[in-house]
This record gives sequence, structure tokens and C-alpha cells, in this order.
Amino acid sequence: MGLLSSLTWTGIAVILFLYLAAYGIALVLYRLYFHPLADFPGSVMARSTFLYEFYHTYFREGSYYLRVKDMHKKYGPVVRITPDELHVDDPTFYNTVFVSSCARKTENYPRASEGTGFEDMVAISKSHDMHRSARGVLNPFFSKAKMKLMEDRVLNRVRTMCTKFRVIRGTGKVVNITNAINSLTTDAVSSMIFAYPSDYLGASDFNEVYFANLKRGIMSVPIFAVLPWFAKSVLQIVMNFQLSLLTFKRVFTAPFLKYAVEKATGWRVWDDASISTQYSGAGD
Ligand SMILES: *[C@@H]1O[C@H](CO)[C@@H](O)[C@H](O)[C@H]1NC(C)=O
Repeated sequence: MGLLSSLTWTGIAVILFLYLAAYGIALVLYRLYFHPLADFPGSVMARSTFLYEFYHTYFREGSYYLRVKDMHKKYGPVVRITPDELHVDDPTFYNTVFVSSCARKTENYPRASEGTGFEDMVAISKSHDMHRSARGVLNPFFSKAKMKLMEDRVLNRVRTMCTKFRVIRGTGKVVNITNAINSLTTDAVSSMIFAYPSDYLGASDFNEVYFANLKRGIMSVPIFAVLPWFAKSVLQIVMNFQLSLLTFKRVFTAPFLKYAVEKATGWRVWDDASISTQYSGAGD
């Protein structure tokens, strides 16, 4: 009691700082000398902390692969690029890593999906068996016959895009092909899964502002990957908020919100029943 009551806030801060410093040093020493991957080469920074990868991915716009290339030049075909990851620059190693499940079951590496908010999604679910059973349900949709049924829907959107290009041709207007193809992909996919598909191709500038924002969002994924607990809490809050909003929106505000947002920003983010008549191809 005597010790506790004599502690000042400064004292507590100093103790906390010393504790964190000691923990950090111990963690780095462990990763450098006692970790199962300790014997593999790589830069000291890459071997000691995940923040090194984060720095290059986030602040240098996804350029870590260039740093990895440099490390291969310096350390050879196998380098340790984060405390937990090896990178192999040797095509013949491919068949050793990627084997069928009769040779070995492979769990997905959790850091590949952590922080995205989609950890349970079929494509990136962690467990081999869970992925396999979920994927089994989806397989029929990807049969050749089923894909052929979708062909018209895709072709319709390709035609729409070409028509737009033809209209723009000769006007001197510059088209951002990235946004055009993004719109084509979005519309094609949504025509396969929604009764009222999106019409990004019909938007002026192929929804440029929307895709720019989407890109900004995707570029912040490294923050969530490095702090997955933060990502989970944010996602929970957003989901709860949206759920309560949804009921309200459906009933009352949808038409008004749609009108206001589309007027103010030019985005076309809501599905629109009126445009489904535009595509009356055999697949629809
Ligand atoms: C085209 O659009 C993409 C994605 O929206 C954007 O990143 C890129 O900077 C744009 N290109 C030009 C030349 O504006």
C-alpha cells in the first residue's frame, strides 16, 4: 500500500515505458536469435518487425516487392521478409509449395486476410477443410455450362462500353481505361448476382470519383493488417450502425438519399431498377 500510494503519474508512465521497452527488446532478440526462422537471411529490420513491411506497403505505396527484390540480390533465393514469412525466388520451388490435398493439407496463412474484415470469406478462409466444403457448394456455378449462360450478360456490358467509346471518339475527351474496365467488371459481376444490376458504365467518367475513393479505402488495408484488433472493432461499429440505418433507410430515406448523393457527387452507388430494362439480352 505504501509503495502504491507513493507512485506519481510520472512514475507510472516511466514504469510503463520501461516495461514496453523491455518487451520490445525481448521480442526483437527472440525473433533474431530464437525464432524457428532465425537461421534464414534477410535485412535486420525485416527479420525483427512487421512494421518494416508496413512502412513500405503503406507509406511507399505498395513498393515492398522492390525491397524484397533487393534482399534477394543480397541474400540469395530464400529470404526472410517479415518475422514470420519467407520469400522464395526460385520457380522450381513452386511445385513444393503448391500441392494437392492428397500430398498435404494447407491452411491459409492468417496474415493474408487479417484486417480485411473478410476473414471468413470462401476464397481466404483459414482452414483447409472449411474452404473445401464451402468451395464445393460454389463449384456448380463455375461449370462450363453455367458460365455459358452468363455469356450474354457479359457481352451486353462489353457492347455498352464499346458504344460509349465510339461516342467519345473524336471529341478529344480523355478516357481513363482503368475506370472503364472497373465499371465493366462491376456491372458484369453484379448482373450475375443481383436482380437489379449496377450501371457504372452508364455513369459519366465511368464513376471516377467512386473508384478513386475505393482505391483510397483499399490502400488503407495495410493499417488494418498491422492492427487487426482495430480493424475488427471498427468493422463491428460500422456494421451495427449500418444495420440500424438500413431499416430506416429502406423505409424512409432511400429515394431522397439517392437523389442527393447522385446530384452532389455524380456517383452511381445504388442499384437502380429502371436500368434493368436497358439490358434485355437472352441471359437476363
Ligand atoms: C485512372 O483511374 C485510376 C483509378 O480510379 C486512378 O488511380 C488513376 O490515377 C487514373 N489515371 C489518370 C491518368 O487519371
